[in-house]
Amino acid sequence: MTLEEIIVPIRTLWKFDYEANVKALRDLYEVAKKEQWNAATDIPWNLETDPAQVGVIPGPGGDPLKEFRFIQELPAKQKVELDKRRSAWTLSQMLHGEQGAMLCCGQLVDVIPDMDGKLYASTQVIDEARHVEVFHRYIQRLDRVYPLMAPLKSLLNAVITADLWQMKCVGMQVIAESLAMGSFKLMKAGTKDEVLSRVVELTAQDEARHVSFGLIYMKEELPRMSEDARARVEDFAVAALRMLCSPEAQMAFGEPLFAIFREVGVDTDVAGKEMEEKFLDPAFRARQPNPFRDYVVPQLQRLGLITDRTAPAYREMELIA
Ligand SMILES: [Fe+2]
Ligand SMILES: [Fe+2]
Repeated sequence: MTLEEIIVPIRTLWKFDYEANVKALRDLYEVAKKEQWNAATDIPWNLETDPAQVGVIPGPGGDPLKEFRFIQELPAKQKVELDKRRSAWTLSQMLHGEQGAMLCCGQLVDVIPDMDGKLYASTQVIDEARHVEVFHRYIQRLDRVYPLMAPLKSLLNAVITADLWQMKCVGMQVIAESLAMGSFKLMKAGTKDEVLSRVVELTAQDEARHVSFGLIYMKEELPRMSEDARARVEDFAVAALRMLCSPEAQMAFGEPLFAIFREVGVDTDVAGKEMEEKFLDPAFRARQPNPFRDYVVPQLQRLGLITDRTAPAYREMELIA
């Protein structure tokens, strides 16, 4: 299925006062206009991509498989084939995430009450369109577009259907954008492919602005909200993180990975055995970076969204001490 419908009631707000009222957002709008780039002409598409130079494109948590014996012992050709497909899978999640961001930002233009917020959000719609374009084009160099994984889809749909605009802003601009930033940092550091490097550099520049928008705006907005509405935003942040880092969500990563193993002829019994061994080892688990703890939680803390009331939920997810 290539088209999926979600019916969302949107509270569209006209604003007839055009003066700047959130100066930092107006300034960010100016930066956004200056930093526009063109996915068709600002990427060196004329250069060829050697898949062996691309490496594994990691998710925001890095690549936990890199120290596995069954991966290290693969013949070079099979390893490149595996990396290509795993990278295309990760980039496909980014691609769908970019579309989700574009859809959500389109809504933000409607639902945000401040003119400065509306103007800024309109620039982010074209930013995300550009990201959709650039990732879709790059994926073709490696493999094919893979489906959107269930936990990420749940998060994106929760943001798209959220009834408070502040929930959309926290879910997309703070949680999803922070994860994207984490991924792009790792990708930039890990790849030797010049084309991907440029794609990631330009995209990360936009995403940094998107995170700033969420932080600046929510810092201003959250103290203005009623206690009840604010509590709903706090709960939304917890629910969003549960969608991505619950044990069930983490399990959802396994299925597409094993499908790729089968496609490239990796022995799934050997792989499964080693993975089980490692992931059951607390010392191995403790060594793995946690993108939620490292990238998302600090931003939620800066906004004061982790309160005495919601802290136990974060503790339970092992995101705070
Ligand atoms: Fe984006
Ligand atoms: Fe973004």
